[in-house]
Amino acid sequence: MILVTGASGSVGREVLSAVRKAGKPVVAMYRNVEDTGTAPPGVATVFADFADLATLQKALRGIKTMFLVCSPIPQLVELESNAIDAARQTGVRHIVLNSALGAADYPKSFPSWHRQVEEKLKLSGMDYSILRPNSFMQNIAAYQGPSIRAQGAFYAAMGNAKLSFIDVRDIAEITANILGNPAAHAGKIYELNGPQAFHYAEVAAMVSKVAGRQVRFVDIPEEAQRKAMLDLGMPQWQVEALLDLQRYYTVEKKGAEITPVLEHLLGHPAIRLEQYLSENKELFRPQAAGA
Ligand SMILES: NC(=O)c1ccc[n+]([C@@H]2O[C@H](COP(=O)([O-])OP(=O)(O)OC[C@H]3O[C@@H](n4cnc5c(N)ncnc54)[C@H](OP(=O)(O)O)[C@@H]3O)[C@@H](O)[C@H]2O)c1
Repeated sequence: MILVTGASGSVGREVLSAVRKAGKPVVAMYRNVEDTGTAPPGVATVFADFADLATLQKALRGIKTMFLVCSPIPQLVELESNAIDAARQTGVRHIVLNSALGAADYPKSFPSWHRQVEEKLKLSGMDYSILRPNSFMQNIAAYQGPSIRAQGAFYAAMGNAKLSFIDVRDIAEITANILGNPAAHAGKIYELNGPQAFHYAEVAAMVSKVAGRQVRFVDIPEEAQRKAMLDLGMPQWQVEALLDLQRYYTVEKKGAEITPVLEHLLGHPAIRLEQYLSENKELFRPQAAGA
């Protein structure tokens, strides 16, 4: 039996859907009992908190393969470590870990947190597979969408750094393949880049085209971006983590690589940014302001 953690989250929800599509027996794990009601019809559910060992042990009973994902928060290392400990105690054989690009070489921000969990998992004695995805296409609607809708513009200290965005649905499909045949991927670490790399001005041009309105990217100083995020009420730790990650792209010049790994694992072409944007064009139009 497969356990998909984070089933209410953007990655976990898609992984759950992909595992179901593949016809594998699966249990969806939610942190809140109320969220179990949001599971797709017919899916077995459990609720457990990574911070609560007793609930985790209960959720993990009978589970042999686990997909582990947690929100990008400073407690991620402790929370995912708890899940790894509980999995080992309850006889899980294989964990598929959602990590992040940069975990190999960037000792800051989210990648460095993921790296600590990777190290813990490697020493756990269980089999593992690690996925290190690049920035999600879905981030564009989530993070840039509000100002695109309101002002027809988005702002960041990104200069002309490029990113090979990846669609969460492709990550999910790969994850489902691995969960369905974990032995073939034991001990593997996959760095997952999207099929094309774009700088933000190019993203703005593509959004303009699909949304049928002019959308601009405005390159701003990092200090202005920090202030804007703080003014929006984002916590300091999150602002600094996001800016640190951004420097991985702008200063370290990472994140623009295009590799064949994604399409090799998918066995078919990856979703392209233009497809994602056009499927979600309403999110970039002013009338979607309540979205
Ligand atoms: N965004 C990107 O471009 C990107 C790129 C590479 C890697 N990543 C990594 O991908 C991961 C997942 O991102 P996401 O967008 O799917 O995050 P998300 O939407 O916040 O989902 C995280 C999931 O973890 C669950 N969770 C949080 N704390 C928990 C706890 N104490 N016990 C049990 N479950 C808990 C959440 O449950 P609730 O709904 O109850 O909070 C949610 O289901 C992050 O670790 C991030 O660093 C992101």
